[in-house]
Amino acid sequence: MKAIFLVGGKGTRLRPLTAKIPKPMVPLMNKPLLVRNLERVVQYGVDEVILCTGYKSSMIESYFMKNKIDGLQIRFAFEDSPLGTGGAIKNAAQDLTEEFFVFNADILNRIDLRQMARFHKRMKADVTIAVTSVEDPSSYGVIEQKNGYALRFKEKPRLSEITSHFINAGVYLFKPEVLPFIEDGRPVSLEREVFPRLLAEGKKIAVYENNSYWLDIGNPRAYLQAHKDILDGKYLLPKENYVKNSLYQEGNSTVPLSSIREPVYLGQNVHISLKAIVGPYACIGDDCIIDAGCVVQYSLLWNKVHIKKDEKISGAIITPDCRLFDLQDVFVRDFDVQEPDKSVTLLTQVL
Ligand code: GTP
Repeated sequence: MKAIFLVGGKGTRLRPLTAKIPKPMVPLMNKPLLVRNLERVVQYGVDEVILCTGYKSSMIESYFMKNKIDGLQIRFAFEDSPLGTGGAIKNAAQDLTEEFFVFNADILNRIDLRQMARFHKRMKADVTIAVTSVEDPSSYGVIEQKNGYALRFKEKPRLSEITSHFINAGVYLFKPEVLPFIEDGRPVSLEREVFPRLLAEGKKIAVYENNSYWLDIGNPRAYLQAHKDILDGKYLLPKENYVKNSLYQEGNSTVPLSSIREPVYLGQNVHISLKAIVGPYACIGDDCIIDAGCVVQYSLLWNKVHIKKDEKISGAIITPDCRLFDLQDVFVRDFDVQEPDKSVTLLTQVL
């Protein structure tokens, strides 16, 4: 089975993390988010993907030139200027003659793709859209449906306009026959243009609801939430076996066990001083150093970060280039962490 991954977006909501690296390549427990998602789809029989690149495409291409994924052939469809989610599919799918999946690259989900494909067939659909239900759909693409078929689409509805809590989950199954309904060579939005047009043309868009975990890694809070959910065992990474309340260690680190408050993830070659506290909920990348007297909790460190003597880090994402603070609220619901003042905006320091 073939699939298209949309990886060309600028990832503006995840800035400054995406200033130097495209969103699909941000690390998720030490491997790019995109790799985690590709490894997942391989498990469902996808053996060929086309990556629709744009923003910082060379980083994605050079990574996959050097790093292969077992059982997966990877091709690229580059966009000189962004073609939007619909235009990107049209640009990439020129030679696809059989049904294919399309994925937003920034979503974590537990959708059973085989079941979704069976549903698509049973519904005799031209396109099937996976949906998930959220309490507040006002910042998403909302889908009204009846008997398993989409009736209407509404992007980012105001409170008074909310008629459905089902939102587009960023996973689709397409018949190639719908491609002529997407215009060539200009930016086209899947949600605003393609789907409404297909409905107007009498095409069948089925809505697949069976989704037990869904997270859009669109902003820093959601990005930290993804790490929390993995440490909690709520989201299982393909090929990994993270179970709640543990110390996950990639190897060859100098770590005094008395410093660790589980759950904690440690990359390679991490040095933690005897008099530091790491965790709970700390993900530490490769080659990090945490000095004496430091506390690092509810936080994520990318590779090669040095936390210097006596620093206290909580609710933060720290990279060699920037520091994002005030993210404690990701953990507030489950733990006794003081609720931050919601009026305080995210504190960002670009180094
Ligand atoms: P924001 O700027 O923060 O909204 O992020 P984004 O640019 O990633 O946009 P969004 O989250 O809406 O995109 C959903 C998915 O579509 C992501 O995987 C993007 O990489 C991808 N995407 C968005 N626009 C384009 C585009 O014009 N071309 C391609 N190839 N992919 C796109």
